[in-house]
Amino acid sequence: MKIAFYDTKPYDKKSFEEQNKLYNYNFKYFEYKLNEETAHLAKGYEVVCAFVNDTITKEVIDILYDNGVKLLALRCAGYNNVDFKAAFLKIHVVRVPSYSPYAVAEHAMALLLTLNRKIHKAYNRTRESNFSINGLLGVTLHGKTIGVIGTGRIGRIFVNICKGIGMKVIAYDPYPAKDSKIDYVSLQELYNQSDIISLHCPLTKETKHIISKSSIDQMKKNVILINTSRGALINTEDLIEGLKSRKIAQAALDVYEEEGEYFFEDLSDDIIHDDNLARLQSMPNVLITSHQAFFTKEALEAIAITTLENIKAFIEDIPLDNEICYDCQRNRENCSRTINNRCF
Ligand code: NAI
Repeated sequence: MKIAFYDTKPYDKKSFEEQNKLYNYNFKYFEYKLNEETAHLAKGYEVVCAFVNDTITKEVIDILYDNGVKLLALRCAGYNNVDFKAAFLKIHVVRVPSYSPYAVAEHAMALLLTLNRKIHKAYNRTRESNFSINGLLGVTLHGKTIGVIGTGRIGRIFVNICKGIGMKVIAYDPYPAKDSKIDYVSLQELYNQSDIISLHCPLTKETKHIISKSSIDQMKKNVILINTSRGALINTEDLIEGLKSRKIAQAALDVYEEEGEYFFEDLSDDIIHDDNLARLQSMPNVLITSHQAFFTKEALEAIAITTLENIKAFIEDIPLDNEICYDCQRNRENCSRTINNRCF
């Protein structure tokens, strides 16, 4: 089995090579991202392995399909970058639904603690023998209200971490977790009451720009915003306005709306052409990490194992448990998979 692996970084190669000892698949690693210009490189490969910032449009799907690709194995949880309507009846799409929800929830809390207590600034100061604490004032999180948007695998773990700190947790999710002790409120109540808001919902048509001027207007003054989910949940220009006016006191972002060209790359010698990103980088009350919330040893191992198991299931013609398909999304109750074990 030949597998074309796009957007390869050294750590991907290391973890996949380690796990592949049990499978012996033939990987061809490309550093290129998968897009319309690079999709033809998959000619002769039945399986393509892609990541979060690959752009898998209808055009890309068609090129892959015409070149004989039968399976798109995403090595990530989110699939907002895939036109899976276009893939339906052409290419099976599988993903890694959960690899380490703890890793992402822990990073969200790390961002909040760092941002609030300005640990990143203190670290730089003390290395330069600047032992002043002027400007490093934070707030005590115990007793503060945190609003969690999306209480799936990651959101629920994050809720527990917050409760451990003694925060009051409220949440919004159109599909509330059953049997949980989570205090669900409407989105408007969440905006009105939260001192901190953390995003843990997927990027969909409904959630795109869920944080925009109209939602920011409903928030408390001095709110802190944390986003470890997907960049386009936030309208960046509205966020910048909210930060400039100090309505939003601080923001920590592990994801950014237009991150594709920048995140995961070392551009320290380059000019950043995205003015919104440059503006956010320049703000003293913004903390950016480069989509690293997932990045733990355990998560990389789990990603490699699940991806290889997804590919194995495809080769052995057994049910693709981690398939995402247009039909299932439209017709969850009665999808064709329950008849054929596969989406087509
Ligand atoms: P999940 O599918 O377990 O949970 C998502 C939750 O969001 C569900 O409970 C769902 O009902 C809820 N939801 C759906 N629409 C909503 C809406 N309109 N408003 C509020 N909630 C809504 O997903 P999981 O594993 O918890 O991951 C959440 C997101 O985290 C992923 O979609 C992905 O975008 C992001 N992620 C980020 C990573 C990173 O490294 N920064 C790594 C992994 C995931």
